[in-house]
Amino acid sequence: MTRAVCPGSFDPVTNGHLDIIRRAAAIFDELVVATGANPSKSRLFDPEARLEMLREVCVDLPNVTVMGFSGLIVDFCREIGAQAIVKGLRGGNDYEYELPMAQMNSHLTGVETVFVPTNASWGYVSSSLVKEVASLGGDVSTLVPPAVHARLTLRQAERASGTG
Ligand code: PNS
Repeated sequence: MTRAVCPGSFDPVTNGHLDIIRRAAAIFDELVVATGANPSKSRLFDPEARLEMLREVCVDLPNVTVMGFSGLIVDFCREIGAQAIVKGLRGGNDYEYELPMAQMNSHLTGVETVFVPTNASWGYVSSSLVKEVASLGGDVSTLVPPAVHARLTLRQAERASGTG
Protein backbone atom coordinates (compact mmCIF):
# COMPACT_ATOMS: atom_id res chain seq x y z
CA MET A 1 0.00 0.00 0.00
CA THR A 2 1.35 3.43 -0.91
CA ARG A 3 0.70 6.36 1.40
CA ALA A 4 1.77 9.90 0.57
CA VAL A 5 1.58 13.25 2.32
CA CYS A 6 0.64 16.48 0.58
CA PRO A 7 1.85 19.21 2.97
CA GLY A 8 1.26 22.93 2.84
CA SER A 9 0.05 25.99 4.67
CA PHE A 10 -3.29 25.96 2.81
CA ASP A 11 -4.11 29.47 4.03
CA PRO A 12 -6.59 29.00 2.43
CA VAL A 13 -6.79 25.96 0.13
CA THR A 14 -7.20 27.08 -3.51
CA ASN A 15 -8.49 25.37 -6.65
CA GLY A 16 -4.85 24.85 -7.61
CA HIS A 17 -4.20 22.92 -4.39
CA LEU A 18 -7.38 20.93 -4.84
CA ASP A 19 -6.37 19.94 -8.37
CA ILE A 20 -3.02 18.62 -7.08
CA ILE A 21 -4.77 16.80 -4.21
CA ARG A 22 -7.22 15.10 -6.59
CA ARG A 23 -4.51 14.02 -9.02
CA ALA A 24 -2.21 12.78 -6.23
CA ALA A 25 -5.13 10.85 -4.72
CA ALA A 26 -5.45 9.05 -8.06
CA ILE A 27 -1.79 7.95 -7.94
CA PHE A 28 -1.41 6.79 -4.32
CA ASP A 29 -3.57 4.36 -2.32
CA GLU A 30 -3.86 6.88 0.51
CA LEU A 31 -3.16 10.60 0.59
CA VAL A 32 -2.84 12.58 3.80
CA VAL A 33 -3.23 16.32 3.29
CA ALA A 34 -1.23 17.90 6.11
CA THR A 35 -1.44 21.52 7.22
CA GLY A 36 1.67 22.96 8.72
CA ALA A 37 2.93 26.41 9.54
CA ASN A 38 5.30 28.34 7.31
CA PRO A 39 6.84 31.00 9.61
CA SER A 40 7.91 33.11 6.63
CA LYS A 41 4.28 33.73 5.58
CA SER A 42 1.63 35.84 7.30
CA ARG A 43 -1.44 33.84 8.24
CA LEU A 44 -5.10 34.75 7.73
CA PHE A 45 -6.82 31.59 9.03
CA ASP A 46 -5.99 29.76 12.26
CA PRO A 47 -4.93 26.08 12.04
CA GLU A 48 -8.42 24.77 12.94
CA ALA A 49 -10.13 26.84 10.22
CA ARG A 50 -7.59 25.67 7.63
CA LEU A 51 -8.24 22.04 8.62
CA GLU A 52 -12.01 22.53 8.45
CA MET A 53 -11.84 24.06 4.98
CA LEU A 54 -9.62 21.22 3.73
CA ARG A 55 -11.98 18.62 5.19
CA GLU A 56 -14.94 20.29 3.49
CA VAL A 57 -13.32 20.37 0.06
CA CYS A 58 -11.89 16.82 0.27
CA VAL A 59 -15.13 15.23 1.46
CA ASP A 60 -15.74 13.51 -1.89
CA LEU A 61 -12.26 11.93 -2.00
CA PRO A 62 -12.51 8.60 -0.13
CA ASN A 63 -8.76 7.91 0.11
CA VAL A 64 -7.88 11.40 1.37
CA THR A 65 -7.59 12.34 5.04
CA VAL A 66 -6.70 15.73 6.47
CA MET A 67 -4.38 16.21 9.45
CA GLY A 68 -2.38 18.98 11.07
CA PHE A 69 1.32 18.62 11.80
CA SER A 70 4.05 20.54 13.58
CA GLY A 71 7.79 20.02 13.53
CA LEU A 72 9.60 18.38 10.65
CA ILE A 73 7.55 17.01 7.77
CA VAL A 74 9.86 13.98 7.62
CA ASP A 75 9.01 13.11 11.24
CA PHE A 76 5.31 13.38 10.44
CA CYS A 77 5.81 11.08 7.42
CA ARG A 78 7.58 8.54 9.61
CA GLU A 79 4.84 8.72 12.30
CA ILE A 80 2.10 7.92 9.82
CA GLY A 81 4.11 5.53 7.62
CA ALA A 82 4.12 7.67 4.47
CA GLN A 83 6.68 6.85 1.78
CA ALA A 84 6.38 10.03 -0.26
CA ILE A 85 5.71 13.75 -0.13
CA VAL A 86 3.69 15.31 -2.96
CA LYS A 87 4.21 18.92 -4.04
CA GLY A 88 2.66 20.86 -6.92
CA LEU A 89 4.96 22.87 -9.16
CA ARG A 90 3.65 25.99 -10.91
CA GLY A 91 6.96 26.86 -12.56
CA GLY A 92 10.65 27.49 -12.13
CA ASN A 93 10.37 29.54 -8.95
CA ASP A 94 8.48 26.75 -7.21
CA TYR A 95 11.10 24.29 -8.40
CA GLU A 96 13.97 26.43 -7.05
CA TYR A 97 12.15 26.68 -3.70
CA GLU A 98 11.11 23.04 -3.47
CA LEU A 99 14.23 21.27 -4.76
CA PRO A 100 16.49 21.89 -1.72
CA MET A 101 13.63 20.91 0.62
CA ALA A 102 13.10 17.69 -1.34
CA GLN A 103 16.82 16.95 -1.22
CA MET A 104 17.01 17.75 2.50
CA ASN A 105 14.02 15.54 3.27
CA SER A 106 15.52 12.68 1.25
CA HIS A 107 18.82 13.16 3.09
CA LEU A 108 17.14 13.20 6.51
CA THR A 109 15.04 10.04 6.30
CA GLY A 110 14.98 8.82 2.72
CA VAL A 111 11.43 10.04 2.12
CA GLU A 112 11.11 10.98 -1.55
CA THR A 113 9.26 13.97 -2.99
CA VAL A 114 7.03 13.55 -6.03
CA PHE A 115 6.43 16.75 -8.00
CA VAL A 116 3.12 17.12 -9.83
CA PRO A 117 2.91 19.87 -12.46
CA THR A 118 0.12 22.33 -11.76
CA ASN A 119 -2.64 22.37 -14.34
CA ALA A 120 -2.07 25.42 -16.58
CA SER A 121 -5.48 26.80 -15.55
CA TRP A 122 -4.20 27.36 -12.01
CA GLY A 123 -0.58 28.28 -12.71
CA TYR A 124 -1.00 31.86 -11.48
CA VAL A 125 -3.02 31.01 -8.37
CA SER A 126 -1.49 31.14 -4.89
CA SER A 127 -3.02 31.55 -1.43
CA SER A 128 -1.01 34.74 -0.97
CA LEU A 129 -2.33 36.36 -4.17
CA VAL A 130 -5.88 35.19 -3.45
CA LYS A 131 -5.72 36.86 -0.01
CA GLU A 132 -4.24 40.07 -1.40
CA VAL A 133 -6.77 40.38 -4.22
CA ALA A 134 -9.69 39.52 -1.91
CA SER A 135 -8.54 42.01 0.73
CA LEU A 136 -8.61 44.78 -1.90
CA GLY A 137 -12.09 43.89 -3.11
CA GLY A 138 -11.17 41.76 -6.14
CA ASP A 139 -13.25 38.79 -7.25
CA VAL A 140 -11.55 35.50 -6.34
CA SER A 141 -14.71 33.38 -6.52
CA THR A 142 -13.39 31.27 -9.42
CA LEU A 143 -10.02 30.62 -7.76
CA VAL A 144 -11.12 28.88 -4.56
CA PRO A 145 -13.85 26.33 -3.76
CA PRO A 146 -17.23 27.95 -2.91
CA ALA A 147 -17.02 26.98 0.80
CA VAL A 148 -13.61 28.62 1.02
CA HIS A 149 -14.84 31.73 -0.76
CA ALA A 150 -17.64 32.10 1.80
CA ARG A 151 -15.16 31.82 4.69
CA LEU A 152 -12.74 34.20 3.02
CA THR A 153 -15.45 36.83 2.60
CA LEU A 154 -16.41 36.46 6.27
CA ARG A 155 -12.82 36.59 7.47
CA GLN A 156 -12.04 39.68 5.40
CA ALA A 157 -15.14 41.38 6.82
CA GLU A 158 -14.00 40.50 10.38
CA ARG A 159 -10.57 41.92 9.61
CA ALA A 160 -12.05 45.08 8.10
CA SER A 161 -14.34 45.68 11.10
CA GLY A 162 -11.52 44.99 13.56
CA THR A 163 -13.33 42.03 15.17
CA GLY A 164 -10.95 39.30 14.04
O1 PNS B 1 2.37 25.89 1.40
P1 PNS B 1 3.76 26.17 1.92
O2 PNS B 1 3.75 27.44 2.75
O3 PNS B 1 4.81 26.16 0.88
O4 PNS B 1 4.05 24.96 2.94
C1 PNS B 1 5.30 24.85 3.50
C2 PNS B 1 5.40 23.66 4.47
C3 PNS B 1 4.53 23.87 5.71
C4 PNS B 1 4.96 22.40 3.77
C5 PNS B 1 6.89 23.60 4.80
O5 PNS B 1 7.28 24.81 5.38
C6 PNS B 1 7.24 22.44 5.72
O6 PNS B 1 7.37 21.32 5.28
N1 PNS B 1 7.38 22.75 7.02
C7 PNS B 1 7.69 21.75 8.02
C8 PNS B 1 9.04 22.02 8.65
C9 PNS B 1 10.13 21.27 7.92
O7 PNS B 1 10.09 20.07 7.76
N2 PNS B 1 11.13 22.04 7.47
C10 PNS B 1 12.26 21.53 6.76
C11 PNS B 1 11.94 21.35 5.29
S1 PNS B 1 13.36 20.68 4.43
